[in-house]
Amino acid sequence: MKLQSIRGMNDIAPPESHIWGKIEDAARAVCRAAGYGEIRTPILEPTELFKRGVGEATDIVEKEMYTFDDRNGDSLTLRPEGTAGVVRAVNQHGWAIQQSILKLFYLGPMYRHERPQKGRYRQFYQFGIELLGVQDPLADAEVISVGWDLLKKIGIHDVELRISTLGTDSCRKPYFKKLTALLKENMDLVPEDFKSRIEKNPQRIFDHKDEKAQALAKKLPLLLDELDEESSQHFKRVQEHLHSMEIPFVVDANIVRGLDYYCHTAFEFTTNSLGKTQNALGGGGRYDGLVEMLGGRPTPGVGFAMGLDRLALVLQEASSFGGVRPDLVIVSSGKESVSVSLKVARELRGRGISVEVDLEGRSMKAQLKRANKLNAQYVLLIGEDECASGMAILKNMETRSEDSIPLEKLTAQLLEKFVESFHQE
Ligand code: HAM
Repeated sequence: MKLQSIRGMNDIAPPESHIWGKIEDAARAVCRAAGYGEIRTPILEPTELFKRGVGEATDIVEKEMYTFDDRNGDSLTLRPEGTAGVVRAVNQHGWAIQQSILKLFYLGPMYRHERPQKGRYRQFYQFGIELLGVQDPLADAEVISVGWDLLKKIGIHDVELRISTLGTDSCRKPYFKKLTALLKENMDLVPEDFKSRIEKNPQRIFDHKDEKAQALAKKLPLLLDELDEESSQHFKRVQEHLHSMEIPFVVDANIVRGLDYYCHTAFEFTTNSLGKTQNALGGGGRYDGLVEMLGGRPTPGVGFAMGLDRLALVLQEASSFGGVRPDLVIVSSGKESVSVSLKVARELRGRGISVEVDLEGRSMKAQLKRANKLNAQYVLLIGEDECASGMAILKNMETRSEDSIPLEKLTAQLLEKFVESFHQE
């Protein structure tokens, strides 16, 4: 039997991985510009971290975690998300005490034992940012803007920002009590798998997929209508800041999020291009109680995470990245020509220009065929004739125009050419 990867865990290879690389580069660039520094936390964490952080009553903790005992009998879990680990690190190293504001980002694999389907995997990758130490709604708006800017930078235009508020305990507690009572009165309409949630987080009924549950949810009161002054002001200010940054959004009371640590702002970036079910490209919100809940000093926080698998799928389907093409393919023939081509290739690569050379001693015709297949921008011909005449031929594969370049000036003249053509793009 052939060995296979685990269900829901994918191999990501060229050409697809080029798209991933571009998304990650764009994420790093957006973070650099906004002052977020990278954090890398372990993939394995104590199980207790997610039970406390994400919440015992969530789908993630109840049924989706990869949890096992290690050789010492300690219960470990493959991280299902990034926020809890970041907060654990912040507390462990006392970073929030040393600095009043912390701005961190991360990129890496997460693990959830969900039913795999397009856009939903058991190992998936997140890019996320966390901003700790700021209570002001300006922080919520800045965090949202970083996500929005990334989506625009990578060319995803079919995206909607949906925002809501989960208030604070002072309005959520009485609201949950009311909701629980109403759900109990309508127990026949409550889906079987939701009955255990009625007490702990009745609001999740709003994003339950079952039709009966959705019909029931439509008749229930909304937290948005029962906010206290503090929560309502916070939400209003976030919206004002988004308006002033000209970031379009819709208020959607159905955004309740699948993790228990949120308060105030909750948001999602959704798209129509991945079908109805896995339409969230990213999501996040404010989590003012989490640092304290994980043993730290009370510190407000807000952040989001995006699913890289989903971003890559959207871009692949829109083929807006169109794969990568080499800047130059060098077609060589004969000993002298091969040594010139290797030297030039190394010099150009050192200057960031992508160059392909023949490694198999193929005929010039076969090499030209490969250059076409690779969709190279330029081809440099250094055959035996060119070596004898001391002039190589540079072909622009788009315009079909040709230039002769003296062999001893190859690197310098090619560099000039590429700088020119990069400027024109
Ligand atoms: P989340 O909404 O659970 O939030 O996940 C964020 C994003 O990760 C989703 O919108 C989706 O794009 C992607 N994602 C989640 N599960 C899967 C899966 N099984 N397969 C593929 N992609 C998936 C969080 O994880 C929070 N930690 C976000 C956050 C950061 N909140 C505050 N700071």
